[in-house]
Amino acid sequence: MNRTPHHHPLHLRRSLLSVPAVNARALAKSATLDCDAIIYDLEDSVLPEKKAEARAALIAHFAALDRSDGREHVMRINPLDGPDGLRDLEAALQCMPDAVLLPKVSGPQDILAAADWFSEAGADDGPRLWAMIETAAALLNLSSIAETGRTQGGRLDCFVVGLNDLRKETGIADIAGRPFLVPLLLQVVVAARACGLDVVDSVFNDFADSDGLAAECRQGRQMGFDGKMLIHPAQIAAANDAFGVTEAEAAEAIAIVAAFSAPENVGKAVINIAGRMVEKLHAEQAERLLGKADLINERKKA
Ligand code: COA
Ligand code: MG
Repeated sequence: MNRTPHHHPLHLRRSLLSVPAVNARALAKSATLDCDAIIYDLEDSVLPEKKAEARAALIAHFAALDRSDGREHVMRINPLDGPDGLRDLEAALQCMPDAVLLPKVSGPQDILAAADWFSEAGADDGPRLWAMIETAAALLNLSSIAETGRTQGGRLDCFVVGLNDLRKETGIADIAGRPFLVPLLLQVVVAARACGLDVVDSVFNDFADSDGLAAECRQGRQMGFDGKMLIHPAQIAAANDAFGVTEAEAAEAIAIVAAFSAPENVGKAVINIAGRMVEKLHAEQAERLLGKADLINERKKA
């Protein structure tokens, strides 16, 4: 089957839980949770005087970690131009997470600096790089940042939007429905897709508001995001649900794929299914959705 060149569902990234690396209870709990990825945070959730302790805690945690279930383990480091960034990269060499999440990226040079560091450390096949898109500069430079995803041998493979920092820097209001942020969020989605990157929506701070979270997850899915970054275990189910595959969606996808392989439709690029035009591209989209459903079922068994 000829899949589109980008965005094959190699990874489930419905729910990415941030866990402050200094919080021992949260670290322990993270191993028991049903999220697709854990983002161990060394950056904003850790005070400057606790950074060294946080790195040590992560090194110990990774040494004992069971990584057989296919979930991704990601380290969010501090900016490389500050006092902790390089120490965090050293820690990442020991932990060998699936990815290192770079904070406050402002241009392609931030991705290249981290990629070069791993190359020079002899870790060319080391962690992939993910980028926080959370500064005004990053929004201006989206296409050149995303382009490094093509030129660095696939090392960059995911954008994660950070609205707390973006709102702080720009003054854009925090309003339910995110009316003034939606145009920017869509630009991030489009820039990511143009270069074959996954793209993950920002955190929802009010973890007691489950209706608000569900609405924002749905909105993120409709905008094209692969999943949502989360701050609390209580948010995982809503994200898995909104960014998952419903039975109705799976049934429709199966019907589309089946229709194209029916004898009367062989050799056709466009067909009529119950009064709706369905093209070959919809069959490709359906195959991708079914691939994601398979991954979700495998994860449930793990
Ligand atoms: N990861 C794993 N476990 C978490 C967690 C997280 N992000 N947030 C809370 N928990 C755990 C708590 O440790 C507690 O476990 P316990 O029952 O074993 O003690 C349980 O979930 C219930 O937590 P609760 O009392 O509801 O919340 P809290 O007051 O302990 O923590 C926050 C609230 C917001 C401080 C906390 O959720 C947090 O630090 N979130 C992540 C913040 C972050 O990473 N920010 C940077 C990215 S934006
Ligand atoms: Mg941030």
